[in-house]
Amino acid sequence: MRADWTEQRLYHLIFEHSTEATVVVDDDGRVLLANRAARSLRGVEMEQLFRWSAERGADLVSFRAQLRVGGRATGEVQVRGPDRKVRHVALEGRAHGPLYVVTVRDVTERRAEAEEVRHLRRLEALGFMTASVVHDFNNVLTAMVCSASLLARALPAEDEAPAALARGILDAGDRAAGLVRRLLRTLRREATPPERVNLNTVIEEARGLVELVVGKSIAVNLNLDAALGDTLLERERLDHLLLNLAANARDAMPRGGTLTISTANLPMVEEGAHPAVHDGAYVALVVSDTGAGMSPEALERVFERFFTTKEAGRGTGLGLASAQCFVTQSGGVLSVRSAPGQGTSVVIYLPRAAPAPAVSGARDSLPEPAGGGEAIVVVESDDHVRLAIRSALSERGYRVLDAPTGELALRQSALANLRIDLVLADVGAPGLTGAEVAQQLQARGHAPRLLLMSGLADRDLDDRGVDSDTVLRKAFTTEALARAVRQALGDGARAPEATAAS
Ligand SMILES: Nc1ncnc2c1ncn2[C@@H]1O[C@H](COP(=O)(O)OP(=O)(O)OP(=O)(O)O)[C@@H](O)[C@H]1O
Ligand SMILES: [Mg+2]
Repeated sequence: MRADWTEQRLYHLIFEHSTEATVVVDDDGRVLLANRAARSLRGVEMEQLFRWSAERGADLVSFRAQLRVGGRATGEVQVRGPDRKVRHVALEGRAHGPLYVVTVRDVTERRAEAEEVRHLRRLEALGFMTASVVHDFNNVLTAMVCSASLLARALPAEDEAPAALARGILDAGDRAAGLVRRLLRTLRREATPPERVNLNTVIEEARGLVELVVGKSIAVNLNLDAALGDTLLERERLDHLLLNLAANARDAMPRGGTLTISTANLPMVEEGAHPAVHDGAYVALVVSDTGAGMSPEALERVFERFFTTKEAGRGTGLGLASAQCFVTQSGGVLSVRSAPGQGTSVVIYLPRAAPAPAVSGARDSLPEPAGGGEAIVVVESDDHVRLAIRSALSERGYRVLDAPTGELALRQSALANLRIDLVLADVGAPGLTGAEVAQQLQARGHAPRLLLMSGLADRDLDDRGVDSDTVLRKAFTTEALARAVRQALGDGARAPEATAAS
């Protein structure tokens, strides 16, 4: 060993260059020695940290007491740094006579992460709770919608007003069912499948809301091409986009003006198509205002997330960015034309969908399928839903046995002198599953088909091993129920064999 490498110096080297922030403090909180890591610990001043006063909190007082009495201590304390930010610091100390050697670790980030995990868990729990509420809500809705459709049928045709009211309930129920499905999908983070929509219909339906958004001083003009083709996209996001553009137009016309929404099949009358749009298979949507317009600099940045010229608290700068994202995801193109004092036009091209197959549009007006005396066992635990299903099916000429559980349904079928043709069971019914009921009936000489119904989201059905494509989705109308039952029974007469009892 070199003469100048005294043992003391080596110890000092080890202390000074340890990566662990370490200090030596006395019982009065004086820091006698702090190594490099301790001196460079950001946002934590050692003198401040070891001020043992009571107002620094019980944790620090207890840390010192442990050192005094037991000679060792661990603890976590908070300290406000020179930047005024609170840091969480973990301490580990050993007493050597009147001196304490303490290692100091900044655990603020770890604390924040733990807090985030807790937050996510809370959200997840909330999601589960919401999902179960939604599931029950779906049953309520099914009962409502089915009862309303029964009511609509029961009312004499000449009584127009009550029939219109019943249809109103049905419509509202349908929309509520749509909302519930969307909520379930959001909860399960499933993508919403695109729908075939006609922009004109969406715009006409959104008109009321758009007028509300822009206020009375702005006139709303619709200029819709009656021959407009359909397009495929997420309907709710389109509503959102229209409202976003309307809000932008309103902000650009504080003293009033005109907002025009036009649609057209391509090619557009004005200026021709966007370079990225090649052929005629697009529909165009143009939202223009007579407002202030944009400077070239602003125009260049409109699609940047968080770019806004609005005062804090008014704009987030996400409106056009998310509009563009949605349009691009739908296979379209969005562009903005604007100049100061010249107003602004947002031009959107969306791919045109192939013409709809004739049947699907006319589906609701097809003659309603009826029963021919087939016997159906309904397993549904919700009394109201069960009652509505029973009424709807009996009215259509089916013989119906219904029970809240599979076991009771089996008992009922044993008592009734009927040949069971169909088991209609809720996926979530307690006890025997629909498939088990069907199998047991088969063992007793029946030949039932199986139709499952559910208000659960696709993933939940997958988790239960149920093919979600074959399930009748709640909330359904009595018409949808009648169609599904007829289809499950094989559209024609009685089926000779059970086929779906899997
Ligand atoms: N119709 C318009 N006329 C004039 N300027 C507009 C128009 N639409 C958007 N802008 C300009 O583009 C900026 C970005 O618009 P965007 O919709 O993305 O965000 P925002 O409206 O500011 O905030 P947010 O929509 O998130 O509330 C606006 O702040 C505004 O300067
Ligand atoms: Mg906006």
